[in-house]
Amino acid sequence: MTDKSDSRTLVVLLSTLISQLITSLILLFPPCSQNTPLTTLPLLHHLDSISHIASTISLIPFSRKRKRDHEQLMMPRNPDVFKSFFNMNSSTFEWLCSLLEPLLECRDPAHSPLNLKPESRLGIGLFRLATGADHGEISTRFFVSQSTAKFCVKQLCRVLCTNYRFWVGFPSRPELDSVSTQFQTLTGLPNCCGIVHCTRFQVKTNNFSDSFAAQIVVDSSSRILSIAAGFRGNKDDFQVLKASTLYNDIENGILLNSSPVSINEVSVPQYLVGDGSYPMLRWLVVPVSDPIGGSNEENFNNVVDILRSRAHRTVTSLRNWHVLSRPIEADFKSAVAYVGACSILHNMLLMKEDYTTCTKDVDDHTLSSHRFQFSSDRGSEEGGVVNKELASDIRSALATKARTSHSMDHETHEVN
Ligand SMILES: *[C@@H]1O[C@H](CO)[C@@H](O)[C@H](O)[C@H]1NC(C)=O
Ligand SMILES: *[C@@H]1O[C@H](CO)[C@@H](O)[C@H](O)[C@H]1NC(C)=O
Repeated sequence: MTDKSDSRTLVVLLSTLISQLITSLILLFPPCSQNTPLTTLPLLHHLDSISHIASTISLIPFSRKRKRDHEQLMMPRNPDVFKSFFNMNSSTFEWLCSLLEPLLECRDPAHSPLNLKPESRLGIGLFRLATGADHGEISTRFFVSQSTAKFCVKQLCRVLCTNYRFWVGFPSRPELDSVSTQFQTLTGLPNCCGIVHCTRFQVKTNNFSDSFAAQIVVDSSSRILSIAAGFRGNKDDFQVLKASTLYNDIENGILLNSSPVSINEVSVPQYLVGDGSYPMLRWLVVPVSDPIGGSNEENFNNVVDILRSRAHRTVTSLRNWHVLSRPIEADFKSAVAYVGACSILHNMLLMKEDYTTCTKDVDDHTLSSHRFQFSSDRGSEEGGVVNKELASDIRSALATKARTSHSMDHETHEVN
């Protein structure tokens, strides 16, 4: 500390060396073959930003000190504060910070770097998402200008949505097999690949109210396997589905294309489960209307309800990011980015087994209202009579595999 300029030079030198080292390590050990372009692309961004940081680091002296210094967040190091301010515990926060650190700093305006530690940048961004506080409140709490607050929030969302998008990427084939196995353990239904659900968010821009739809597919642990957001809010669930890449990828055989299983001589392909706001399709299974008491179909509806509650649980957890729990005060594009960022954070928390934002299963009263609403007239419009019969055979075959409520009680306790 005696000679600042010397240690500064050292920092620059070291970080340049480190980034060269990382670059050569990655060149020596290229990402393994199962990495899709989705995961290699962020890696390239990452490399870009490392070299960018190496060239700008002399402007941010000492910011790369390894020791985590929570004092700069202007708050006591208290576990509850982390949970209520950032929706995660302090270990997860530190882990995330070290992961995102180089990316959070890489877009500072060249003429006026923010001179803010990565902890503060991450803290400001997470605080907005977790509490819904506006930029004015953040500015007061973190002793930064409103424009700095705005920058940090935007940069966090940008980093998550571009560099960590793969955290909500659709599972690869072997991964999807394990998703199906978990569904089968829970419900008895084989070959199930996810639950599709559509939810809506309000946006308030100055004086103007708007809304958009977000479609998620989740697994039995409420992990998001696919998210598509930003569809105009007046589209219905099925219109949103048809407008999504997911729909086209499935229809074109790019997704859900593994071998079917045979149940009672009916060939059952990989499929998703949806609620009554969707029609029945070859790869989309929905509840049966008016099943006979005690029938396989009734059991089937009961297990579908369990599955739908997993999707509802995901939405509830997402809305525990309180920026999403009320009309989102932002421009449309930022509001959609908030949903993307919160979805990525949701999966990250599940991966780290940090259950701060998780909620228990919602009760059945809120579920039953959505069971059957899709008008059957529209169902036959889509896909024609042959497909409809096929879909109905598939569902009847599956219904014979559905767990009875007795065996379900046992199983849900185990899984939860
Ligand atoms: C805001 O909304 C109110 C009520 O809808 C309206 O009377 C007013 O003109 C609007 N102001 C602006 C700036 O659009
Ligand atoms: C945070 O959560 C993780 C996962 O549950 C746990 O392993 C870790 O000990 C927790 N850390 C703190 C500080 O509570």
